[in-house]
Amino acid sequence: MKECEWISIAAMDINRVIGSENKLPWNIPKDMNWFKTATKGHILVIGRKTFESMKKIYSENEYYILTRNRNYTSDQVNVKVIHQIEEIPDTGSEGKKVWICGGSEIYKATIGKCKYLYITQIKRTFEGNKYFPEFESDFYLEQVFYEDEEISIKKYIRVTKGV
Ligand SMILES: NC(=O)c1ccc[n+]([C@@H]2O[C@H](COP(=O)([O-])OP(=O)(O)OC[C@H]3O[C@@H](n4cnc5c(N)ncnc54)[C@H](OP(=O)(O)O)[C@@H]3O)[C@@H](O)[C@H]2O)c1
Repeated sequence: MKECEWISIAAMDINRVIGSENKLPWNIPKDMNWFKTATKGHILVIGRKTFESMKKIYSENEYYILTRNRNYTSDQVNVKVIHQIEEIPDTGSEGKKVWICGGSEIYKATIGKCKYLYITQIKRTFEGNKYFPEFESDFYLEQVFYEDEEISIKKYIRVTKGV
């Protein structure tokens, strides 16, 4: 699979839970602020279900919403509706990065092509039915951005396979 300059950004609990009933299972403002800051002004790729659960979209971001529904539309100028993974740009341009922002289906469908993962590890368990895929054998830990008793925020890079 061709690797792209995509960054998957997610928060997961100890059991890899990321969502419950189309919502986040937690309310952790410092992680939400991290997400907003990291992705501000960039391209955000989002599944239709997560998109519909979002309370706010920001004018400085460019949103690519994935749906298989050919009749799905948005009247927001910075929202582009796309229907397959191949329509996501391989790399950003003009300083914009491509952030894969979930949910579960979109993480699973794209992780094989992501170069970087920014993972917030939440150090407890929550009820939930949506998960982040296993990635540990394909990525190595490059940096810990932040750590406290509640969360850690880590950057992973894809392991480059030798020849
Ligand atoms: N913790 C985190 O960091 C985080 C981040 C984001 C989301 N979440 C959580 O994740 C949950 C939602 O995840 P989810 O898996 O249910 O939904 P999702 O990934 O947000 O959206 C799924 C939808 O995306 C479209 N889709 C999926 N694969 C596609 C493909 N290959 N081509 C075109 N369209 C495609 C389909 O839309 P149609 O049905 O319209 O065809 C599908 O129903 C929520 O609980 C949310 O809060 C957590």
